Amino acid sequence: MPEKNLIKNCSSEKNGDSLVPKRLEGQVAIITGGARGIGEATVRLFVKHGARVVIADVEDALGTALASSLSPSATYVHCDVGKEGDVRSLVDTTVSTFGRLDIIFNNAGILGSQSRNRMSIMEFNPEEFDRIMSVNVKGTALGMKHAARVMVPARRGCIISTSSTAGFMGGMGPYAYTASKHAIVGLTKNAACELGTYGIRVNCISPFGVATSMLLNGWRGEDDSEPKGVPSEEEVEKLEEIVKAMANLKGPALKAMDIAEAALYLASDESRNVSGHNLVVDGGFTASKNCVGL
Ligand SMILES: NC(=O)c1ccc[n+]([C@@H]2O[C@H](COP(=O)([O-])OP(=O)(O)OC[C@H]3O[C@@H](n4cnc5c(N)ncnc54)[C@H](O)[C@@H]3O)[C@@H](O)[C@H]2O)c1
Repeated sequence: MPEKNLIKNCSSEKNGDSLVPKRLEGQVAIITGGARGIGEATVRLFVKHGARVVIADVEDALGTALASSLSPSATYVHCDVGKEGDVRSLVDTTVSTFGRLDIIFNNAGILGSQSRNRMSIMEFNPEEFDRIMSVNVKGTALGMKHAARVMVPARRGCIISTSSTAGFMGGMGPYAYTASKHAIVGLTKNAACELGTYGIRVNCISPFGVATSMLLNGWRGEDDSEPKGVPSEEEVEKLEEIVKAMANLKGPALKAMDIAEAALYLASDESRNVSGHNLVVDGGFTASKNCVGL
């Protein structure tokens, strides 16, 4: 990216007393799983940085309400990422509405059953495995495929996906989830190899625990296939304390906004030479796991 484009993309906006640089000015982004949690935080941050964002999710009421609150910078499209027709039409609608697609954040994901007796390999459930693989792995691959379809002719673009610390470590979640998140790291590396020729960058993010609905359902030992109420403030605080205690870095609790900031970095020109990377956002948890007391 030439320097003048870097400067152009860093226009700023007066916000109270501070100048907030707009790092995604003029860019168009799709965010899957954008209706709540990490996706929602990223939608809000990308809009703040000047992007027009298409929220893609299956939670229509949440997604529509979020889009309306950010209108006209955000719109909502119903999309089940495990269905190719939905993903194809998501990308086509984005391009026909906004004339371009610069960024896709393949963030939609499900954890699956967390009940103790279903965590063992001896209780491996093939239907559950297919359900998780369909959303987490097929959904990510389809997002990459259809984004690449329009990014390759444009010879630019940025593909980001959400993996997890369960994407490179064992013992962090159920079998199907762990396998699916490892697969996202593999998809990312392969797509980075292939699409780099066209100037398209492909990266993923691996968060540790963030107190979203997904993690809270897991913590409660509940299945995420059933819709759940919004987590209470007390539950969020308690879970954040648990995660914080496990992290090596003693500082603020890991929040959805920290993952959104990582996505912003990977989406913006500041990371113009970063591709095939797995950006771990875990408060040092995985680096210190095998620490021998330093
Ligand atoms: N919260 C954590 O601790 C954590 C840690 C590591 C990775 N992650 C990953 O972050 C991503 C976001 O999770 P979150 O924590 O914000 O959870 P969340 O449950 O709050 O959000 C997930 C979103 O994905 C949507 N979704 C689910 N199935 C979908 C489908 N088939 N098509 C489209 N959208 C679908 C949901 O409706 C929801 O809006 C997931 O990929 C998750 O695996 C989360």
